[in-house]
Amino acid sequence: MSMVLLVGGAGFIGSHTAVELIGQGYEVVVADNLSNSDASVIDRIAEITGVRPEFYCADAADRGDMEEIFGAHAFDAVIHFGGKKSVNESVSDPISYYRNNIDTTLTLLELMKEYGCSRMIFSSSAAVYGDASDAPYSETAPAGECANPYGRTKYMIEQILTDAAAADPELSVVMLRYFNPAGAHESGLIGERPAGEPNNLMSYVLQVASGEREAQPVFGDDYPTPDGTGVRDYIHITDLAKGHVTALRYAMEHTGAEIVNLGTGTGYSVLDVIKTFERVNGVKIPYVIAERRPGDVAVSYSDPSKAQRLFGWRAEKTLDDMCRDAWSWQQKQKKDG
Ligand code: UD1
Repeated sequence: MSMVLLVGGAGFIGSHTAVELIGQGYEVVVADNLSNSDASVIDRIAEITGVRPEFYCADAADRGDMEEIFGAHAFDAVIHFGGKKSVNESVSDPISYYRNNIDTTLTLLELMKEYGCSRMIFSSSAAVYGDASDAPYSETAPAGECANPYGRTKYMIEQILTDAAAADPELSVVMLRYFNPAGAHESGLIGERPAGEPNNLMSYVLQVASGEREAQPVFGDDYPTPDGTGVRDYIHITDLAKGHVTALRYAMEHTGAEIVNLGTGTGYSVLDVIKTFERVNGVKIPYVIAERRPGDVAVSYSDPSKAQRLFGWRAEKTLDDMCRDAWSWQQKQKKDG
């Protein structure tokens, strides 16, 4: 049985990936500094899967913390979700983004070499495409002209990992460029917990639907899109998590570096999301048209064909599924206090 270290494994994408990996028979160890998550997530993973992953409250940038974990287990692979991810915060506090996101990666690479682990799956982002080309984005599209420091950390790390793989013939690195993760596990037991005011669309919609906020701001209705609002490639979190399992299988059998999009290939507008959420869940989402948000592109969606070709993976769930599952997670959270 393969043993996998999930750095940032208590977060939104990490926790869902833990569930899918355990379901496929992998042994999972979670390391998370809980800066944007809660230890109760480990209980929820155990409740869903019947298996409790070993958990370390540890900071991946801290060599001492991580040495203890690498010394205690022989990992076949590391999945590195452990990054800061708020676009706004990255603009106001860029140094902490460069320090955290790059430091964690370097520390992990050093320890992997020291302890003989040669496979890494890395959480990159569609943010690396910036505004340099038009959707659909394939992995060969120009990248690196990012709109914010968050995206730039992801692009820099992609370069670091590519260089590391070029220098070490044993290393296998898969960099996954996520589009817009949404939804929650169908059990309603795990999902996204935004700290403070949510930045991303689905988290905000949930708070409007539950009456915590009055109206959904729609950032711009004059984009060159069918209804004037921004278009994105929303992907169900469970599909995204399954993408990691297939990427890991691939990394077990290949060396070198690969960059792979994880998206559905379909774009939906902000108004599509609001209307779908209303229809699927039978709730009203009042909205107001607001100014464009600085740094937003009009249209972003993936060409997902490389993931299909390399991993045999494609997204299966729909926007309806994302809206329904996100809402039942929100409702359950409320009920559980
Ligand atoms: C951003 C990041 C992405 C990151 C994701 C995490 C960039 C370019 N993109 O994606 O890398 O993975 O956040 O959540 O840095 N919108 C509204 N009202 C709202 C919120 C959003 O109209 O209250 C609109 C936006 O203008 C956009 C769409 O909804 O058109 C999606 O926005 P959001 O959910 O914030 O994601 P991205 O900006 O695409």
